[in-house]
Amino acid sequence: MTTRCRQVVLAARPKGKPELTDFRLEDTAVPTPVGGQLLLEVQYLSLDPYMRGRMNDGKSYATPLQIGDVMTGEAVAQVLISNHSQYVKGEVVTAHTGWRTHALSDGTGLRKLDPAAAPVTTGLGVLGMPGFTAYAGLRAIGKPQPGETVVVAAASGPVGSLVGQLARLAGARAVGIAGGAKKCAFVKDELRFDAVVDHRAADFPARLAAICRQGIDVYFENVGGAIWEAVLPLLNDFARVPVAGLIAQYNGVPPGDGTDRLPATMRQILSKRLTIRGFIYYDFAAELYADFLREVGAGLAASRIRYREDIVDGLENAPGAFIGMLEGRNFGKLIVRVTG
Ligand SMILES: NC(=O)c1ccc[n+]([C@@H]2O[C@H](COP(=O)([O-])OP(=O)(O)OC[C@H]3O[C@@H](n4cnc5c(N)ncnc54)[C@H](OP(=O)(O)O)[C@@H]3O)[C@@H](O)[C@H]2O)c1
Repeated sequence: MTTRCRQVVLAARPKGKPELTDFRLEDTAVPTPVGGQLLLEVQYLSLDPYMRGRMNDGKSYATPLQIGDVMTGEAVAQVLISNHSQYVKGEVVTAHTGWRTHALSDGTGLRKLDPAAAPVTTGLGVLGMPGFTAYAGLRAIGKPQPGETVVVAAASGPVGSLVGQLARLAGARAVGIAGGAKKCAFVKDELRFDAVVDHRAADFPARLAAICRQGIDVYFENVGGAIWEAVLPLLNDFARVPVAGLIAQYNGVPPGDGTDRLPATMRQILSKRLTIRGFIYYDFAAELYADFLREVGAGLAASRIRYREDIVDGLENAPGAFIGMLEGRNFGKLIVRVTG
């Protein structure tokens, strides 16, 4: 067993887009578990948009990182040493290890994975936190009905791809928004959405309107910014908008995008009696997590549900891959292979 642990820490707070110098790769000793603890070896690290928010200093729903802290993150990890009665060496779990090769755990928040049931990486994507976000937001807030139109952006990613597929399974029409021809083809042909629109096209708002002639009944918000502006006039009376994320705004509002969307948004909320509700996936965990694992797990096993992963090799490449995700360079659930 190696005696060295590598980890990525926050070196500086980004101003706007993160840069490689905002991260630092460090080498430390592998920690030793005491009674009741486990030593975990990370196989796969999940990179997720929310991590950008943790790099800022400021109040949010989660505590910000301090300079020098290990970057936050969930991983698939193997138990190397167990001094814990409920785990044995060799078991594979999901754990909040952060961006590192080895971590200690007292068992809190671990979830055992069955490698025979599904590839373990799905525990970070379609059968993990992003998948549950899609499931919970649609189930609890969006509530698509047969024949309705459901629109979602970042449609080739882990949240968006499942939103559209679940909407179709509920009998609704799924319209995806994605960046570029390759992602659009994947959303239409592989994920089997009813329609897809490229948000990079100059006439994107007109194309979206043409594809949503009956209006939009559920808009699952992943992006915000210019996409919200194009969606807003198309919302039908009583439309539901589960607000999961605003990735277009995570690096700050770019120059030239200084539009104040608030007055138009408020006017539409009132005149169309919209329901707009923000949520964090864990709000619905007690109520819906078991249903999610059962339904989406069965959907995967029967190939009713499809997913795509974008796997990058090496912990040292995590910062570059993360920066790329915030610019749309990932194609599918972004995962770093650490030792897997
Ligand atoms: N509320 C919650 O509990 C919760 C949980 C998980 C995720 N989320 C949120 O859900 C959203 C999707 O997350 P995910 O994990 O599925 O990641 P993801 O789809 O892999 O997110 C990255 C994608 O977002 C799109 N994107 C980035 N910047 C954009 C921009 N300026 N305009 C339009 N699209 C842009 C890009 O796709 P294109 O190239 O196709 O544009 C990019 O590939 C994020 O906002 C995330 O924060 C929320």
